[in-house]
Amino acid sequence: MRILRSIGLMKRELSAHRRKGRTVGFVPTMGCLHEGHLSLVRRARKETDISVVSIFVNPAQFGPKEDYLRYPRDMKRDASLCRKAGVSYIFYPDAKSMYPAGYSTYVRVRGLTENLCGRSRPSHFEGVTTVVAKLLNIIRPDRMYLGQKDAQQAIVLKRMSGDLDMDTDIVIMPTVREKDGLAMSSRNRYLSADERSAAPTIYRALQEAGVLIKSGNGDAAGIISGIRSKIRPIAAKIDYVSVVDTKELKDMKNIKGEALIAVAAWVGKTRLIDNIIVRR
Ligand code: PAF
Repeated sequence: MRILRSIGLMKRELSAHRRKGRTVGFVPTMGCLHEGHLSLVRRARKETDISVVSIFVNPAQFGPKEDYLRYPRDMKRDASLCRKAGVSYIFYPDAKSMYPAGYSTYVRVRGLTENLCGRSRPSHFEGVTTVVAKLLNIIRPDRMYLGQKDAQQAIVLKRMSGDLDMDTDIVIMPTVREKDGLAMSSRNRYLSADERSAAPTIYRALQEAGVLIKSGNGDAAGIISGIRSKIRPIAAKIDYVSVVDTKELKDMKNIKGEALIAVAAWVGKTRLIDNIIVRR
């Protein structure tokens, strides 16, 4: 495994592999890797010849009051996990080379980014789409692997790649959970012991909602208020509980077909997100 920091070198290495007919699988991350990331790596390794993991805490996707500086970083541990997982390259650029002085180009996906997390994090998705567009231009992978936990991000990036005629297939993999159901996230390490034991309530509330929907309940307002009342006791603040369609991410009133039930809530000072997809 090689760790490359230079954009030019990363491009040259991967061009050489492509010339030899090798396929490239890409897992974009902000580091502090967990089993969720490693499940994406395993799939990339299975399906492509060369696997690339990017580790870049992207300043453009954090709001001014968010946790960019505090975001956990542990390159030594990440490198060792990637090596053990058989990754071919870690791409580990710095912010100055990704956003040099005078940088002025941003990618925005309209519509899809306005609901859910886009409401309380208005510039977040522009930061995500911009950095991922750059990473896709540098790495030019055949396949990019994303987790369902960040459902809106995955849907937005799929749309971006289609709209901009990018040659990368997007593969979305199921959320990896702790034994008690909590969705794995680099931010889980912010939770105190009490917060950590309360946090799985979010997934339990989602599951209970899923059972109701599958048994025929299509009343989105009722489903939302049921989830809210279950998570209110453990949440310092609920950012949103929403039921949306999986194509345009528009709020649904009457649940019909495929629906994304999504939650963002603060447990203590940590903002957690989770979701399930249900069909009625
Ligand atoms: O999901 C993440 O870790 C980030 O949003 C991503 C896709 C690596 C872009 O910085």
